Amino acid sequence: MPLVTSTEMFKKAYNGGYAVGAFNVNNMEIVQGIVEAANELRSPVILQASAGARKYAQNAYLMHLVAAAVETTDIPIVMHLDHGADFATCKDCVDSGFTSVMIDYSGHPFEENVAESRRVAEYAHEHGVVVEAELGTLSGVEDDVKVADDKAQYTDPDQVEEFVKRTGVDSLAIAIGTSHGAYKFKPGQNPKLRLDILAEVSRRLPGFPIVLHGSSSVPQEYVKIINANGGALKDAIGIPEDQLREAAKGAVCKINIDSDLRLGMTAGIRKHFMEHPDHFDPRQYISDGRSNVKAIVTHKIINVLGSDGKA
Ligand code: G3H
Ligand code: 13P
Ligand code: ZN
Repeated sequence: MPLVTSTEMFKKAYNGGYAVGAFNVNNMEIVQGIVEAANELRSPVILQASAGARKYAQNAYLMHLVAAAVETTDIPIVMHLDHGADFATCKDCVDSGFTSVMIDYSGHPFEENVAESRRVAEYAHEHGVVVEAELGTLSGVEDDVKVADDKAQYTDPDQVEEFVKRTGVDSLAIAIGTSHGAYKFKPGQNPKLRLDILAEVSRRLPGFPIVLHGSSSVPQEYVKIINANGGALKDAIGIPEDQLREAAKGAVCKINIDSDLRLGMTAGIRKHFMEHPDHFDPRQYISDGRSNVKAIVTHKIINVLGSDGKA
């Protein structure tokens, strides 16, 4: 099956009470770990590349890795641009074969967000590509952009109908208390997503797919391994998975996960070197990172997304 857009995927997810995982890809082993898990569980999957990933791996390598995933499986796979900074970046991805792009103008004033998102939607739709935009801002770190906690803002449900109508985008990322990176909450805090805001947004946009960014749960077993070996991941706490599961049962059709894959990859490699300090064949240690990526995606599909058997 060739790469698909998320149109049918989200329709089925919305009606079926589950979400599709959008996992960030940066190299071959990450692509393989994600796709092996999704394929074994017969789950649809979204592979997404950030600006940082495109800079690190080069767009052509990423596109061909994803093409290899498509060639070796028969599950629906979307290739998505994560956090497109502007029209030019989105256009570049549309032109190079992505089937979905995100325009993230959420840090700009409402009218500018509308104008840029609409411009991207018009161009992408002419080329059969779907568009995600964002209203509200998450705290945390993406690439070099850090949004401080006090600058983050929940999505205002009063704005969503107008935004979607005027932009023509296909899905909307909203801010309800998730955040990017490994440090989302402090130990002892009791993280609570604003599921009431999600409910109000979906009441205003019936049937419309909602996206959650910053949805890593930060598995403590990986944090411990990284810390045990001189790492500095103190106090890294993530989003409770049961709350994400609740969101996935409603209007949330896409859940973004990157940090958990980073932690798994790094913990796998660190553990390998703790046990085999003499190894120097990259295939030996990177494959332990890849196994963790696969294990995380398997866990998310079954316990958070509910997308197993939906391919
Ligand atoms: O939301 C951001 C993703 O975690 C991508 O991170 O920009 O460092 O590749 P990155
Ligand atoms: P995490 O940092 O929680 O994994 O979020 C990833 C993300 O939102 C990518 O767009
Ligand atoms: Zn994000």
